[in-house]
Amino acid sequence: MHIGPYELKNNLVLAPMAGVTDRPFRQLCKQLGAGLAVSEMVSSNSLLWGSAKTLRRANHAGEVEPKSVQIAGAEPQMMAEAAQHNVDNGAQIIDINMGCPAKKVCNVMAGSALLQHEDLVKRILDAVVGAVDAPVTLKIRTGWDTSHRNGVRIAQLAEQAGIRALAVHGRTRACGYSGDAEYDTIRAIKQSVSIPVIANGDVRTPEKAREVLEHTGADAVMVGRAAQGRPWIFREIEHFLATGRHLPEPSVEEIRDIMLGHLHNLYDFYGEHTGVRVARKHISWYSKGQPGGAVFRDAVNRLDTLDEQLAVTRAFFDRLANGEELAA
Ligand SMILES: Cc1cc2nc3c(=O)[nH]c(=O)nc-3n(C[C@H](O)[C@H](O)[C@H](O)COP(=O)(O)O)c2cc1C
Repeated sequence: MHIGPYELKNNLVLAPMAGVTDRPFRQLCKQLGAGLAVSEMVSSNSLLWGSAKTLRRANHAGEVEPKSVQIAGAEPQMMAEAAQHNVDNGAQIIDINMGCPAKKVCNVMAGSALLQHEDLVKRILDAVVGAVDAPVTLKIRTGWDTSHRNGVRIAQLAEQAGIRALAVHGRTRACGYSGDAEYDTIRAIKQSVSIPVIANGDVRTPEKAREVLEHTGADAVMVGRAAQGRPWIFREIEHFLATGRHLPEPSVEEIRDIMLGHLHNLYDFYGEHTGVRVARKHISWYSKGQPGGAVFRDAVNRLDTLDEQLAVTRAFFDRLANGEELAA
């Protein structure tokens, strides 16, 4: 699959997730098989660009290419400037967020709230595409609510505006994250445009990835929540799509080593204080479903230093690897 001049190594994409898809997590998912990983969104409000959070979000040093950065906002000129600013800071692909239902984003009329204003959508797309040489991609939901599924019209607007790939989450803005994603609208969107379409929503297993690709005819699938604590899901899907067979589950030792490497990268990226806090949610995800996981999480979440967090986490996974019974 191509996005502008960039050829992706496969058709598996890590979804942008604010607070999750920071540089360490994107790197890890790319190492473990993702062909593309979209960064957390960066506000189009230039007053925020100097903040530590935004500077960190715009840090792509050493990241596997192509580097895709998501921007969010509702004002065409500000979005154009945000795109330019991010390209100047190393972004190779600009992704526009019209898919996020978060109150913080929708209240200021951005994210998926924009879908009900097709004229404004067009002005934003024209402004951003016109502002940068880098390819621009768009992420949408299937529509505003279940009686206003205007995804096909938005997709056509996007193609006309020069958008190079379109990711579609199979829910409407009103659906939030409830119910099951639906893929009929994604199929209709795919049939109505010739730019690459990336299907998203509830892809949790290799079988589901194949089913969604077949049902929608999409060019790629995008995985979000299922990659939390399971970044190796990308190589599992890649292998299954290529061979029809499953890779063996990673051993506890391999999970431990992947996780410890991830924690070190988080400490390097954020520094000890923030790194330890960001690491907590990842440690929780990695330990989900493991025997004794609840007791372990309760203990590890109280620790404030890198040394303690590493030691307790390593000890838990060592005991699991040695087959020691742990209290549930
Ligand atoms: C914690 C979290 C943060 C998210 N942040 C963003 C975001 O910043 N931009 C965006 O376009 N979508 C965001 N999303 C939506 C995801 O990209 C994706 O569309 C959604 O989770 C459905 O895919 P999944 O079922 O594979 O998780 C977020 C989702 C989650 C769970």
